[in-house]
Amino acid sequence: MASASITFKTVLLSTILAAVLVNSYRFEVGDEKGWIKPTGKDPQTYNQWAAKNRFHIGDTVYFKYRNDSVLEVNSADYLNCNTSNPMSKFEDGNTVFQFDRSGFFYFISGQSDHCKVGQKIIIRVMHPSEVESPGPAPSPGGAGGGWDSDNWEPPGINSTTKLYALSYFTTVVTGLFIVLYLFM
Ligand SMILES: *[C@@H]1O[C@H](CO)[C@@H](O)[C@H](O)[C@H]1NC(C)=O
Ligand SMILES: *[C@@H]1O[C@H](CO)[C@@H](O)[C@H](O)[C@H]1NC(C)=O
Repeated sequence: MASASITFKTVLLSTILAAVLVNSYRFEVGDEKGWIKPTGKDPQTYNQWAAKNRFHIGDTVYFKYRNDSVLEVNSADYLNCNTSNPMSKFEDGNTVFQFDRSGFFYFISGQSDHCKVGQKIIIRVMHPSEVESPGPAPSPGGAGGGWDSDNWEPPGINSTTKLYALSYFTTVVTGLFIVLYLFM
């Protein structure tokens, strides 16, 4: 009995520690509409969405779609909507992609006609040194060849930053409560 209880506490504690240490944020691509072929006249929808957010290493993006797919590609294939040699391909309809480095990530629809009308997105993940001092984001200079600067807008500080702080706060408070409970 006692050992079962200790095991339970160990598992709970590890979970809490993991939750506190890995403070990542999940972004939903396209918000409630998800990952769809753009219907409006504005082909920059997804990059406008990306420009409004600040992405950190460890964060995830969630793609929700039907009868479609998500390809992670290089910058040239992004520009040409070339679906023939993706770095990764996802087609399960609920794709969670985690950023394991800073820099640029390029995603396009696996259907090149969808990509050509704007179902494509560039996400820039901030370098840890930028995270320390939130301020005007530096320009993405030196970001590799093939970069189309027309597709880039620097991210602003907005409600996502507050959400991020709130999510961190909530995690810490929840963790504290559970630790208190365990040791009472
Ligand atoms: C997806 O494709 C199937 C088969 O082609 C079709 O029956 C279904 O209506 C499609 N769903 C959407 C959301 O387009
Ligand atoms: C797509 O990429 C492949 C491999 O890099 C290349 O052989 C092919 O010509 C490209 N297709 C187009 C339409 O650019």
